[in-house]
Order: sequence, then C-alpha cells, then structure tokens
Amino acid sequence: MEDRVFIFDTTLRDGEQSPGCSMNFEEKIRMARQIQLLCVDVIEAGFPISSVGDFESVRLIAEKIKTCTVAALARAVKPDIDRAWEAIREAAKPRIHIFIATSDLHLKYKLKKSREQVLKDAVWAVQYAKSLCDDVEFSCEDASRSDINYLCEIVEATIKAGAAIINLPDTVGYAIPDEYGAMFRMIRERVPNIGSAVLSSHCHNDLGLAVANSIAAIQNGARQIECTINGIGERAGNASLEEIVMAIKTRHEKLGLKTNVDAEEIYKSSKLLSSLTGMMVQRNKAIVGANAFAHEAGIHQDGMLKSPLTYEIMTPQSVGIKHSMLVLGKHSGRHALKQRYAELGYQLTDEELQHAYQLFCSIADQKKEIFDEDLETILESGVSSIEEVYHLANLQITSGTNLRPTATIELKQGDQLLIDSATGDGPVDAAYKAVERITGVVGKLTEYSIKSVHSGHDAIGEVFVRVDFNGLLFNGRAASTDIISGSVSAYIEALNRALASKKRKEEQQKKIVPTDSVTA
Ligand code: KIV
Ligand code: ZN
Repeated sequence: MEDRVFIFDTTLRDGEQSPGCSMNFEEKIRMARQIQLLCVDVIEAGFPISSVGDFESVRLIAEKIKTCTVAALARAVKPDIDRAWEAIREAAKPRIHIFIATSDLHLKYKLKKSREQVLKDAVWAVQYAKSLCDDVEFSCEDASRSDINYLCEIVEATIKAGAAIINLPDTVGYAIPDEYGAMFRMIRERVPNIGSAVLSSHCHNDLGLAVANSIAAIQNGARQIECTINGIGERAGNASLEEIVMAIKTRHEKLGLKTNVDAEEIYKSSKLLSSLTGMMVQRNKAIVGANAFAHEAGIHQDGMLKSPLTYEIMTPQSVGIKHSMLVLGKHSGRHALKQRYAELGYQLTDEELQHAYQLFCSIADQKKEIFDEDLETILESGVSSIEEVYHLANLQITSGTNLRPTATIELKQGDQLLIDSATGDGPVDAAYKAVERITGVVGKLTEYSIKSVHSGHDAIGEVFVRVDFNGLLFNGRAASTDIISGSVSAYIEALNRALASKKRKEEQQKKIVPTDSVTA
C-alpha cells in the first residue's frame, strides 16, 4: 500500500462556512496562495452554487492556483454540478466533489428519500460529473451513522460510476476512533472494486476526536485526509491540518506514512488565517498555540536547557516557529533566569544572581509573566550593593474620593518590625509621611516619576525618586506592578543610600586619630 497520505484542505469551504470564519474575496485568494505554499494536495475552494460570491472566489482560486488540485463542492443535482464545473473548469487540476447523505436519519428527515432513490441520484451525479471532469470525489454524508451494508452498496456503485475518491465523513463528530477505523476496514474488505479508489476521511470535532479519528482512518487504509488549518469548521470544527500533519511526521516510526506538506509553512498559515478571520487559536492549541513551545516550570526549563529532547517531541523550527520560549514566571528557576540574562548580555555573578532571583520571585508572585524589559529593571533596581537599613515589609492604604488618604507602613530594621500610620495629600504622600514617622528621618522629594516598562494591564511601573536629605540628594528606583508600593520602595532605597552615606562618613571620622593622643 502507498505510504503517502494526501492532504485535502477544506479551510476555504467547510472552515469558511462556520460562524466567525468568513473571508471576503481578496482574503480567500490570499489564504489559498498560502495553502498552496503549504503544498497540500487538494484545496477545496468553496461551494459555488451557494452564492455568487462563493462562485467568483472559487473561479479565481481555480485560475490562480497551479500546483494543487482545486475542488468545488456540489450536491448530487445537475445545477450544483454545472455551477461547480463552471467555477473550476480553468483550473490546472480541477476536481468535482459530490455529496449526498447516506444515513437513514438524514434520508428520513432531511432528504425524504428512500435508500434506492439516493443510490440512483448518487450514481447519476457521479456519472454526470465524470462526463465533465476527470477527477470526481464522492462523499457519503453522515457515513459514520449509516448502515454499513448500504454504505458498501453505494460505495461500490459510485466507484463503478467513475468516482476516484470515496470520502466517508464523520459529519457530526460522533464516532470513536476504533469504530471509525473499523468502518474503513470493512469497506476495504467488502467492496470488491475498492482498489480503484482512494479512501478519504473527513472528521468533525464535536467530541474532540477529529484528529484521533482521522489517524484511525489512515491506520485502516484511508489515504486522503480532509482537514482545515487551525481546525476551523462547522460547530466544534474539523480535524486540524497541523495536528494531523505533525502526528504523521512525528510518529513516522509508528505509522509509516508521510504527507507532501511543507510543515515549515504551518505557523505562517495559522497566523494568516487568524488575522484574516479574527478567530484566534487558544494559547494551548497543539502545534500553533502560543504555549505550544513555551516552558515555564523550573524543572522543564532546566531540562530544556540541558537538552530540548527532554520536553519537546518536535522542534518549533519544524513548523516555522523561530524558537522555543522559556517563559519566566513564578515557576521558573535560577537556571532559566541566569540563561536569559546571559542572552541579554549580562554575566551575573552568583551573588548578583541571588539578588536578582529574590527580586524576580517577588515580582513573579504579582505578575503572570516576566518580560526582558522587566529583567533589565530588576537588574537596575535589584542588584545594588547598598546596605539595606530599612526594608518595606507591609503597606496598607485607604483612599477614595471622600476619604483622607491614610497609609499604614511596616518597615523591617534587622529583626525589628516598626509600624506607623500617617495621612497625606495623596496615598504616596501619606506613605512617605508614615516612613518619616517611623525612621525619624525627614526627606524632601525633589523629583518623582513613574514609567510603564511595557504595555498591558499588569505592566510593571518603574518609579524614580530623588530625595533631599539634609541638603544632599539621593536617588531611589523600584519596579512593581503596584505603583504605591513601588513609590515607597524607591523612597526607602533613597533613604538607605542616605543612611549608608552618613555611616560611611561617620566611620571615616572615627579613623581620623586625634593628634594629641599620639604618644612616643
Ligand atoms: O461533514 C461533511 O459531511 C461534509 C461533506 C459535505 C463532505 O462536509
Ligand atoms: Zn464537513
């Protein structure tokens, strides 16, 4: 059996017809060009009878796409087939794709036709399409809920009528993988002329099994998979192209199959589709989600730095993503922090790393993700050699439109916890006055600025203060997601500098030995 699996992309038909995924004329052409770059085998461009717009876009895609087969969908009736053919007749490789439901449920409630009538319609439609186009695919809609004997009968008859591809959809995403696989196995065992056609799977994701079912189909002889980029499609979507392609590639040793898809175009295709439709993929979406190659847990980051094989089963580059990401957050360890600083050009000593890691942990507790800008800020404010006389242990602010701002501050001085409160013109002023009451050191704020380090509601605010203590100016800096706590920390840093400077001067004074104490 041929080990090649043909990829039939229906992003522009089954995908595009689902809520929130519609694209205009130009957008469809752009997407089709990108799908061509992916090197899929077939692009299903649309359902030409459904609207003039759909007809026109299928016609244009058929004209522009040269290397992939371009398929157009049609029900098993003459007007649909004529319109489909009109739209794709200029394609380098045209295909008419005919479908009719085969489950008793659909026959009874939707088509209101007997099995005999549906069989007759299907055979007639395939023969008619074959008289126009050499490449005809026939789909038994709702195949997975159809009677297997009837399915065998209609598959045999439509192959005889000229269908080269027989598609057996799990239209409502109802099948379980071993069931869906068994259907393909039975069709192969029981349909005498099955060797003249390629079997195709087409799965919907209502139970989250679309990809698993597609894989079960190819394990049982299907050699075409119908799927969509990002898994877009009716209801819960279709089988996701990127997941199928990468499952076949990554598990080659198990499946022994291959596709012709250029997997390095996957990420670009996914991004383009999201930007054209506005339908974003969830962060944890396999292969193309923002977290697909991101690692935050300290143990995983450590493993990744030792060998990516520890936690990645495929490389990000293999799907067109530049590199993995070690996301710095509260679960990260020193190894990842040191590595990221090295990437940013900082070689930290163990002591510096220890300081930076402490500050990093306290910021990571407040913030979901730490960015490179945050690391720079941490370095500037965190790795300083000034001796800490006071350390902000706790801060409580009450403030409001009709409330006088009041701050209660707890400062640590060695093992001692010092507490006091004050009111002020604003919360920062109240906090600074409380610090003055605790320390007994009066400072005059001469400069104060806050700048957001990057955008976003959980951005870090970098506070800079310049404070006059006894005629001498001292700077303080701090970074925090809470601007009041950042303001107090910056002020305390300036105060600690002032106290350190005073202490240094006092020690120097002591070293100056009085001349009258010199003895012979
Ligand atoms: O889900 C389905 O059955 C279909 C057919 C039209 C192929 O999309
Ligand atoms: Zn479908």
